[in-house]
Amino acid sequence: MTLRNEGTIPAPAGGGMQDGAPGAREPKKVFIKTYGCQMNVYDSQRMGDALASEGFRATERQEEADLILLNTCHIREKAAEKIYSELGRIRLLKAERARQGKGLNVAVAGCVAQAEGREIIERASVVDLVIGPQTYHRLPEALRRVGRGERVVDTDYAVENKFDHLPKADRQATRRRGVAAFLTVQEGCDKFCTFCVVPYTRGSEVSRAPDAILAEARELAEAGVVELTLLGQNVNAWEGEAEGRHLGLGGLLHRLAGISGIRRLRYTTSHPRDMGDDLIAAHRDLDMLMPYLHLPVQSGSDRILKAMNRRHKADDYLRLVERIRQARPGIAMSGDFIVGFPGETEADFADTLRVVSEVGYASAFSFKYSPRPGTPAADLGEQVPEEVKTERLDRLQALIRAQASGFMDSLVGTEMDVLVEKDGRYPHQSVGRSPYLQPVVLAKSAGAVGDIVRVSISRAGPNALIAAGGEPEAVALKTVA
Ligand code: 5AD
Ligand code: SF4
Repeated sequence: MTLRNEGTIPAPAGGGMQDGAPGAREPKKVFIKTYGCQMNVYDSQRMGDALASEGFRATERQEEADLILLNTCHIREKAAEKIYSELGRIRLLKAERARQGKGLNVAVAGCVAQAEGREIIERASVVDLVIGPQTYHRLPEALRRVGRGERVVDTDYAVENKFDHLPKADRQATRRRGVAAFLTVQEGCDKFCTFCVVPYTRGSEVSRAPDAILAEARELAEAGVVELTLLGQNVNAWEGEAEGRHLGLGGLLHRLAGISGIRRLRYTTSHPRDMGDDLIAAHRDLDMLMPYLHLPVQSGSDRILKAMNRRHKADDYLRLVERIRQARPGIAMSGDFIVGFPGETEADFADTLRVVSEVGYASAFSFKYSPRPGTPAADLGEQVPEEVKTERLDRLQALIRAQASGFMDSLVGTEMDVLVEKDGRYPHQSVGRSPYLQPVVLAKSAGAVGDIVRVSISRAGPNALIAAGGEPEAVALKTVA
């Protein structure tokens, strides 16, 4: 592939990995920066794989990249604005590179690309390529066009399924990414919550076929992956067919549980209305399904839920959580909340606080409402003043923080299985993941990366649990003793 910018990037046709020969060229380097959700993390990996098969090597250093790829998020205004300030910095870098006689290509992918398309190219002259989330498999072709001097915008909804066209991850790249992996099983959203851009940026709900998902999961397992997190904007709306029978996410999880090497399963993000009986039963029947569930409710006020088009009431949500807890006692609940949705009164906000108090979250994410162009709520009157949003967010976050730290404290003195993921900060430490998704610092001697080890929790910090032997001072203590 030829990548040319002002005719200066030396890039051999068909890829740049030809070392050894006299005059061999350096492989081209791509720097990928990911914003937003886990689905973007997964997409960035798959784009990295597609570029690797075109001769690109990933770099962590923006200054040495031949291609900078920003995989963007459009969910809130702040997220989208970040992209333009980043592009401002990249413009300086590109000018600097040009002074050194080197080229630099810049690509914007993801949800800002989908939502703003051509506008990005017009607003930011540094950008060579804008590519939407449904067309990543066409990235190599789009780059070839950039190489021919075009500025490319490809944000069509492709008729073909990108997953059928993206190259497989190579085993070494998967191994480097670690023992816990994401796997997208569903994309898009048909719910049309009135605040949300996702139905416009990611399109309507599409489920990947069970066979493709199982094949990818097997490859991940063969590369050493132990824990799989199934991803989808509405992951629990996933549906498929196997042996002529309808399959829901619960059924899919059972099948994935049968893959040798896979020992833990998770999924995110779910909508309360799609929490089917088969899925709730899977929380009861499948030990491998971790006892943690991210189930956003957004607001505790029925009036606001209606205006948000959530199509359920606060009480429906509370009863659902109750059923899930009956199926899996001790499950850690997580959620998303929006404060200051148009028309939200103090009484509505008090209803949200009440729901949070009743559920008791192990963790939760909360945001100030951010009007998104093109969504119905952006045009509503009664927008809530910024300072009211800030004040409500502070109160909500204080409550959530108290609940989260209460949950962490409740784990001190208990034993739990931890998946060892990587080395810790000190030589005697490793870092792993609890069943409830918190990082756990443990003794390296407890097990190798990829092992699931039983540890006893001795302390809880704000963001991590410490297991016996994992304390920073453990080595010093040992020496003294
Ligand atoms: N403003 C604020 N938060 C939003 N979210 C989605 N759209 C908006 C918006 N316009 C939040 C929701 C969602 C999470 C991913 O982001 O809580 O669950
Ligand atoms: Fe957005 Fe609602 Fe769809 Fe979630 S369910 S992606 S919040 S429209």
